[in-house]
Amino acid sequence: MENETIYILAIESSCDDTSAAVLSGKKVLSNVTATQKIHEEYGGVVPELASRAHQQNIVPVVHQALNKANIDKKQLSAIAFTRGPGLMGSLLVGTSFAKSLALGLGIPLIEVNHMQAHILAHFIEDKNHKTPEFPFLAMTISGGHTQIVLVKNYFDMEILGETLDDAVGEAFDKSAKILGLPYPGGPLIDKNAQKGDPKAYPFPKPKVKGLNFSFSGLKTSILYFIQRETTSNTDFIGEHLENICASIQKTIIEILMEKLEMAVKQTGISQIAIGGGVSANSGIRAALKEAEVARGWTTYIPKFEYCTDNAAMIGIVGYLKYRQRSFTQQDVSAKSRYALGEKY
Ligand code: KG4
Ligand code: ZN
Repeated sequence: MENETIYILAIESSCDDTSAAVLSGKKVLSNVTATQKIHEEYGGVVPELASRAHQQNIVPVVHQALNKANIDKKQLSAIAFTRGPGLMGSLLVGTSFAKSLALGLGIPLIEVNHMQAHILAHFIEDKNHKTPEFPFLAMTISGGHTQIVLVKNYFDMEILGETLDDAVGEAFDKSAKILGLPYPGGPLIDKNAQKGDPKAYPFPKPKVKGLNFSFSGLKTSILYFIQRETTSNTDFIGEHLENICASIQKTIIEILMEKLEMAVKQTGISQIAIGGGVSANSGIRAALKEAEVARGWTTYIPKFEYCTDNAAMIGIVGYLKYRQRSFTQQDVSAKSRYALGEKY
């Protein structure tokens, strides 16, 4: 068994990305993602359209992942899939597909918690990426979640703090929407912010006790600010977009960094790993690199392709669970709300 090569096919369909990956042990052989463009014109993910697009995408995406990896489905050791959390209709597509394929091939099925996968993506073997040592702190920052997690072991994680309202990705996307930028606006705020002055417009930061976060107040103050400024100058956004984006991004990064500092103080752990779509943000990446020098932290930032939703991160969890023989029965169903520490 030790020398046996384990091939995992992983499937991710929790939101608006249909993704499939093939792993050989901890190494990624392929990681194919079809991003659904249809939501752009609606300014956010439309759940019904997302599940329909997953249905169209899943077969070609799985085929491509197997082809790219040069693996025949008969060689697969197990199928891993995202059980939750996420949009129910989206999750059901991946879950049903994974169940049927595992049944058809007569191989084990492995369910994966999407948030755990964002954290464990750091254990994907890659020559340019070091892996964290336990215990470490993980900050998961995505369109659906904002959490600081104490990671004691692969499957022993404790949430120390989380958002009380909007997720940080939502804060980026909703701010972008106020500025008239298309969905998802996070990357566009980032792009414009890099050319702007972060001190141009000060926005208030929320006062939330402990390690919890809140972003809805920031969104409201940005909305009021823009309404006020555009009343006197209708071209205000166009003329100052870069400075506005830089100021929004700076405020969000400061909120995240202040809580991380508090978590480091509370736990005495200064190994920090980030995960989730917002970890692609240039501001948070730079702030963490600075903290390595200024505070002596060790930081772990995933490769770009493992930041946003992808099946490779589902595959690494699948492999780690395969080693423990932690398999899932065919009566499993998708779980739209699925807490990180919840027993499967
Ligand atoms: O992890 P993810 O792909 O999906 C969820 O599980 O939510 O995260 C998507 C979120 C979106 O809100 C998107 O705007 C944000 O990540 N995002 C960014 C950047 N790239 C993606 N936010 C800020 N800066 C970026 N560069
Ligand atoms: Zn995600």
